[in-house]
Amino acid sequence: MAEETLLYEGKAKKVFATSDPGVVRVLYKDDATAFNGEKRGTIVGKGAINNQMSNLLFRYLEEHGVPTHFVEEVSERETLVRKVEIIPLEVVVRNLAAGSFSKRFGIEEGTVLERPLVEFYYKNDALGDPLVTDDHALILHLATEKDLAELRRLALAVNDLLIQRFREAGLILVDFKLEFGRLPSGELVLADEISPDTCRLWDERTREKLDKDRFRRDLGGVEEAYQEVWARLKGGVAR
Ligand code: TMP
Repeated sequence: MAEETLLYEGKAKKVFATSDPGVVRVLYKDDATAFNGEKRGTIVGKGAINNQMSNLLFRYLEEHGVPTHFVEEVSERETLVRKVEIIPLEVVVRNLAAGSFSKRFGIEEGTVLERPLVEFYYKNDALGDPLVTDDHALILHLATEKDLAELRRLALAVNDLLIQRFREAGLILVDFKLEFGRLPSGELVLADEISPDTCRLWDERTREKLDKDRFRRDLGGVEEAYQEVWARLKGGVAR
């Protein structure tokens, strides 16, 4: 029996089939890439941290009414999740200016936005994941009008919950990226991961960067930053 049917391999994860057609097993790797795969490296221990951190946050979000793909953590690096059809949009939420937003609009990193900003990017490596408007998404059939409204609603609900959870760990949630998937029932659920790979997290006191920007920008202390975030989250109060 082929027990290990690899369904998909991405830059940071592998996805395997299981005996249940509605469930897949995700394996988190230590591989890191940036700038659409141009920069490559390894962040030792990242797979285990991102897996466990995502699961902690997905459980927290579920408890607060956000549907997710999470089923069960099976090891430090592996999790069973519901099989979904991924919506080809990366949903970014920003609370403070940083990264591509700062660059595109010439706004200093750290500037507080007057309200959370939701952006959609077309998940397409060959095109470099371009920013898309609602009309682009509709005309390209990436999502329906109803989907876009639901994605925005869920992303903002996740933002409120995560801001609070990270604040309890002494961290500022600057921005983050979510992915959503559709269940066979048609329901949209939060998928992928929530980790220092997909969030910008700054120390509340020193504003030190504790996320993948340390890797992207060659700031050093990458492993230590991931460990620090995970230690604080684990140690913190659950709500
Ligand atoms: P950006 O400022 O580069 O657009 O990134 C916004 C947020 O999205 C940041 O928290 C990092 C995250 N992100 C990903 O998770 N994957 C990506 O491929 C990119 C470009 C950003």
